[in-house]
Amino acid sequence: MSWISKHIREGLRGLEPYQPGKPIEEVQRELGLDSVMKLASNEYPEGAFAEVQEALREEISRTHRYPDAGWHELLDAVVEVYPISRGEILFGNGANEILELVVHLLCGPGDEVVFAHPSFPIYGLLARSHFDGGRPVPLDTDLVHDLDSMAEAVNDRTRVVFLCNPNNPTGTYFTESELVDFMEKVPSDLLVVLDEAYAEFVTADDYPDYFELRARYPNLVSVRSFSKIYSLASLRIGYCLGSEEFISWMQRVRQPFNVNRLAQRAASVAIRRQDLVAERRKTNRRRMIELKAGMEALGCRVVPSQTNFYLVFAPGGSEALFDGLLRAGVIVRPLRGFGVSGSAFRVNVGRDDENAAFLSALRDVLAAVTS
Ligand SMILES: Cc1ncc(COP(=O)(O)O)c(C=O)c1O
Repeated sequence: MSWISKHIREGLRGLEPYQPGKPIEEVQRELGLDSVMKLASNEYPEGAFAEVQEALREEISRTHRYPDAGWHELLDAVVEVYPISRGEILFGNGANEILELVVHLLCGPGDEVVFAHPSFPIYGLLARSHFDGGRPVPLDTDLVHDLDSMAEAVNDRTRVVFLCNPNNPTGTYFTESELVDFMEKVPSDLLVVLDEAYAEFVTADDYPDYFELRARYPNLVSVRSFSKIYSLASLRIGYCLGSEEFISWMQRVRQPFNVNRLAQRAASVAIRRQDLVAERRKTNRRRMIELKAGMEALGCRVVPSQTNFYLVFAPGGSEALFDGLLRAGVIVRPLRGFGVSGSAFRVNVGRDDENAAFLSALRDVLAAVTS
């Protein structure tokens, strides 16, 4: 064992690094392709709002100054948009940092966290890297959170439940009344984290409204991201809404400058443009409907989704399919890391021209792998 491995905590030795979607530049270089489209990381296919880009150009001259550790402008913006007060909001270096802070705050040796499987792999990764107490609960046969089994998995060692709604990588969701049933079953002093990274894409009427539920369930927290509908993935900013007491504890474990200056400026401009968010939601829904019809016409099984991506079961082997698409210049997400078996992949909607090009590449590759 090397000098460093012998000092690595026992529970961490088997950890594999997180495999992110392949970057466009890497695929271009490796395969010598001129044009590559990435439909693998659930990003919004167009850039940030023009007004946000303008604000960023202005802010760029101030990068030598530390960011505002108290996020004042951002807090002003969020309380303008949502019925919540300043002490009930916490920002993070992406929603991922918030998830990590929750685990850091609450979990130690012997504790457990409950989450669905397959779901966002970070919950399991955090559980392993901090304290080795992950309790994954399989999705039901419709690939939806099995909230009854999740409630049963809660015991007196459980510190947190992560509920990903809509769920990544399936795109499925549970309703407000299902969430209420769950909240009534679990102890009122158990923290339940709703990971709502894709909430802005949802069009279903029965999707839970966190702002309706929060007074009734102070142990319910919502985590959101600026990486998706707001097109700010590379700036790394997300936030969390919760009770004032919970947020005050989270404040104590975060780094003072956890959200960079550009991210703060961009997010505070972006969140005020809910009119543009609503337009994007509509455009996304139209594209999702078209994409689903196109894939089904090619013989794929497409799981209904409330997000900007689909879980797809395609005829033929997934490796050959993924490689074929890559060679055609399309990056999708094979689902090994998410624990989905069979020939499944995840694909997010692109621009209209990208969706058409993707469907045409899929047609050719499926013809080759199934012949
Ligand atoms: C369900 C879910 N939660 C959280 C995140 C992380 O978001 P962020 O980019 O804000 O860290 C993602 C990103 O893909 C996600 O899919």
